Amino acid sequence: MEELNVTPWEVSGRLDEAAYSKLVQRFGASLIDDKILEKIKSYTKDLHPYLKNRLFYAHRNLDSLLDGYKKNEKFYLYTGRGPSGKMHIGHLIPFRFTKWLQDKFDVHLLIQITDDEKFMVKEKLTKEEVERIKEDNIISILSLGFKPEKTHVIADYQSAKTLYYYATDVAKKVTVSTIKAVFGVNDSDNIGKLFFPSIQIVPAFLLSALSGERYNCLIPYAIDQDPYFRVARDVLPKLGFEKPASIMSKFIPALRGQTTKMSSSDEMTGIFLDDDEKTVKRKLMKYAFSGGRDTLEEQKKYGANIEVDFAFNSFMTLEDDADKIDKIREEYSRGEITSGEMKEIAADTINRVLEQIRKNREKVKDDLDKFMFDEEKLRDQLKRENKG
Ligand code: TYM
Repeated sequence: MEELNVTPWEVSGRLDEAAYSKLVQRFGASLIDDKILEKIKSYTKDLHPYLKNRLFYAHRNLDSLLDGYKKNEKFYLYTGRGPSGKMHIGHLIPFRFTKWLQDKFDVHLLIQITDDEKFMVKEKLTKEEVERIKEDNIISILSLGFKPEKTHVIADYQSAKTLYYYATDVAKKVTVSTIKAVFGVNDSDNIGKLFFPSIQIVPAFLLSALSGERYNCLIPYAIDQDPYFRVARDVLPKLGFEKPASIMSKFIPALRGQTTKMSSSDEMTGIFLDDDEKTVKRKLMKYAFSGGRDTLEEQKKYGANIEVDFAFNSFMTLEDDADKIDKIREEYSRGEITSGEMKEIAADTINRVLEQIRKNREKVKDDLDKFMFDEEKLRDQLKRENKG
């Protein structure tokens, strides 16, 4: 069996339920349980379907962050995207969830765009391409509707001065052997990979550094990004900052099956945000890996294996109505819905969401400047807020 390997730069092995529990143990995180869900709900009143369905299934220090919040400690959100190509529907998961958190808690959000990371890690990608992709990806992310006055998009090349200044604090405290062990970097890799993690760690304490005030930080991401934040937890206390809290999701499987994740650089691994209605339907009908049984009879008798089913998982990723998700899950796993019908349901939901994104993209396109990180502006804003 292929070994389970999950780092930001490589995901291999079969990602089933057993693998996800193993990763939580290996990474020293905690599972999202009923107790923490109750705690979240005491602030948010309801629960996002991603929490109900345990798509976000693991965390670190979320309980203490929430306890701090109760005692009026400030926190902010931090998430990001590496612009290596077009975004697929899996990439929407952390951003949709982060939007929900921002709406519920009304807090600042840093969105890091790691153009430098993708340039250094992807051999064939040129700087010009990365910059073009960056702009497209930022527009897609902002089309989800974050709060303009509290959302700061920090793109690495553009904000290099601020990031580099604080990254050297991080780099000074991290050894080569840590990065080799945590990221699976080896001696034939380029040296960018050794230093880059310092850059992705900076936004986890940037608000505290800029304001001189204590802020906790909550970072939503899928589990491949965890290596960065394991290192961050080690380093930040040494720099006088709080350890960041994390909330981690599973991956939605790739179009053709579970052993790979969807990839921005391969058109046929997933459904992309600019796929039109027909393409979405065709990809689902023709290629989507199905957890349905071979014959209608068996499907009715045994029901579908939804864990591996692309159509069900992509439907669950984009549907906001938790009751509808429950109903379809029950019916599909009982065999009352066929695999073809499941694909139709998924196509409807995906196309509805993608259509909305396309419309919103037109609206935010000319507004990007409002969202871009500006060190002086943010310092002033934080000063004003902390005085008031
Ligand atoms: P990137 O661009 O690889 O991925 C962006 C976000 O999407 C998550 N993700 C997925 N989630 C569910 N299903 C999938 N199939 C799937 N594929 C990717 C990723 O975990 C990530 O949260 N280095 C980062 C950018 C970054 C970042 C951050 C991400 C900078 N700072 C802080 C999260 C938090 C990157 O290249 O992400």
